[in-house]
Amino acid sequence: MDMIESLNAAGQQELAKHLETLMGDARKKLERDIQSQDWAELKALYTEKSNASLEDNVSKDLKPMPFKIAVDDLRYDFWKETGEILLGKGQVAAFLVAGGQGSRLGFEGPKGMFDIGLPSHKSLFQLQAERLQNLAAQVGHPIPWCIMTSPLNHEATVNFFTEHNFFGYARENIRFFEQGTICALTPEGKAVIDNDRLALVPDGNGGCFRALAQSGTLAWLIEKGVRYVFLYSVDNALCRICDPAFIGALASEGRSMSASKVVHKAGPNEKVGIFALQNNKPGVVEYSDLPESYRDMTNADGSLTFDGGNIAIHLFKIEGLRKLQTSKLPWHTARKTVCGIEKCWKFEQFLFDAFPQLGTMMPFGVIREEEFAPVKNADGNDSPKTAREMIGKLHRDWLRKAHVEVKPGKLYEVSPTLSYAGEGLSRRVFERELGRNILEFDE
Ligand code: UTP
Repeated sequence: MDMIESLNAAGQQELAKHLETLMGDARKKLERDIQSQDWAELKALYTEKSNASLEDNVSKDLKPMPFKIAVDDLRYDFWKETGEILLGKGQVAAFLVAGGQGSRLGFEGPKGMFDIGLPSHKSLFQLQAERLQNLAAQVGHPIPWCIMTSPLNHEATVNFFTEHNFFGYARENIRFFEQGTICALTPEGKAVIDNDRLALVPDGNGGCFRALAQSGTLAWLIEKGVRYVFLYSVDNALCRICDPAFIGALASEGRSMSASKVVHKAGPNEKVGIFALQNNKPGVVEYSDLPESYRDMTNADGSLTFDGGNIAIHLFKIEGLRKLQTSKLPWHTARKTVCGIEKCWKFEQFLFDAFPQLGTMMPFGVIREEEFAPVKNADGNDSPKTAREMIGKLHRDWLRKAHVEVKPGKLYEVSPTLSYAGEGLSRRVFERELGRNILEFDE
């Protein structure tokens, strides 16, 4: 079947006609866009999704997934040491998924370039690069860093790192690669055309497994002897990247292919996915897919039944990633305005849908105030302001624990170059570093 025929067969006659009006370079570009898409799959997706209801997304057999706060476990120190040993042997890599559009934040450009307004004015990318380098120095081995972008932000991301000399990260230890895209459809299921091109949007963070493999990055990791991959989002300003205790816990547990950090949900309406067992398989149900009956369900003591919040911090064994490179994840939909057309269909895959495919998953409970400061919105909840305050308070706690007399009403920013997670601080260090690697700001 040639291109025009396959477009017609997929109900895309308008697109086929539009293509025939173009000549030369413009035609070649649109042809390339068209070739990048699976039109039969898009047609099937539209048919399925336009006939689905919210309840269809969720299994009727949903059970909560129990979890414990890891730091309360007697094995915590052992896990941390085990993780440090594995990091020291070069068996752990960091994998940042940064291909999103960050539309809620409304910042032009890759979200990782965003300055959340800390006194240092470091970008999210810089905070991450410094935290990783501090940990690498402590364990005595560089940590390979995989950064997934999308065709919409790849160039800007790489340019930003290049302009900043990769924030001191050795160039040979970073790999940038692009995720795939999928065409947005009009409410009637037709391809959205934008200036003679297809309106292609990133295929969701679940595209990361395919992209990791297709870009050669999985092979690069395997060649380096990496066995554990720490996967995280660009916009959690408190992410403890490559947390040794998390790594050590999965390595010690043995049977699971992956582990995920979990926090107690702030309340029924918090917009985080929840961990649950669906048909006895571990997985995450997105907040928008969770029917109210489950969302508001409580236990006899009044606590939420579905309480395990997903903070998008996961750890995969390399065998798990190998398996996932070819597995098909389900598609989720969002109705959004695209190119001025309201209620267009945008399709996305979510990385957490990988868990049911990998069998058992190890939940690792963490304390929200220590590890989860999402930067999603321009203001209000989960904004730069809330993230800044969380960092300021956590770092103030670190200083207090190190017997520093902090000033009332002040918050603190401790540079990740000085401390990875609160270690190495003292009154002497505070006096030496205040105004340099420790900065004070107002509450
Ligand atoms: P979000 O779900 O918050 O989406 O991404 P987003 O695109 O960044 O923001 P909004 O919804 O438009 O406001 C969670 C993580 O997944 C990554 C994001 O970059 C972020 O780190 N992501 C999201 C991808 O890597 N690719 C995607 O296609 C979508």
